[in-house]
Amino acid sequence: MTVRVAVLISGSGTNLQALIDTAASSDCPAEIVLVLSNKEGAYGLSRARTAGIDAVWHDHRGKPRATYDQEVADILRRNRVDWVFLAGFMRLLSPVLLEAFPGRVVNIHPALLPSFPGLQAQKQAFDAGVRVSGATVHFVDAGMDTGAIIAQGTVCRQDDDTLDDFSARILAMEHRLFPMVMRWAAEGRLALRGGEAVVSLATGESRSLLDS
Ligand code: GAR
Repeated sequence: MTVRVAVLISGSGTNLQALIDTAASSDCPAEIVLVLSNKEGAYGLSRARTAGIDAVWHDHRGKPRATYDQEVADILRRNRVDWVFLAGFMRLLSPVLLEAFPGRVVNIHPALLPSFPGLQAQKQAFDAGVRVSGATVHFVDAGMDTGAIIAQGTVCRQDDDTLDDFSARILAMEHRLFPMVMRWAAEGRLALRGGEAVVSLATGESRSLLDS
């Protein structure tokens, strides 16, 4: 039985592409049934259509947050979605959407939370001079990048790194981390219990990835 995944985006969708590629492999029980963007021109919508996935632009402008989120929840329910993955969806979620999918909404963030939440996390980390940053996949709650941490991957800053170099390596780590978590979700090995992210790990698996 396949597990039905929706991916919410606002932009380029390179993380979406990593999820699409993983879901396409025969041993992955995830099926991406819908991609929804709040931005009309998001390139991720084209990625989805190229892969034969339903892709919808749902405009948020001029709507109260709760109204928009109720509409999104209705669209996801109509598509019988099991899990919701936020792949660069640059909006906070209100309780109306979170309560429609309790413990089933996951986000990726380009820093080692709880450090550097919010926008331009790679630049925040770079400007702070940290030697190690990375990416975090976490359950979503109503806060800004505050939900229970599922998995993290580290990225070391090299002495000659520009911000672009550093950001590119963090993005490459995201592309390893997010599909791994989607597999866990689809295989029924990921849950939110008592505010903690619980993963049933197989032999050799880890919730921490290190860059090479
Ligand atoms: C990714 O780096 C993702 O971690 C970030 O947006 C980018 C989307 O890139 N999300 C956040 O910053 C959320 N706080 P993509 O469209 O190429 O996947």
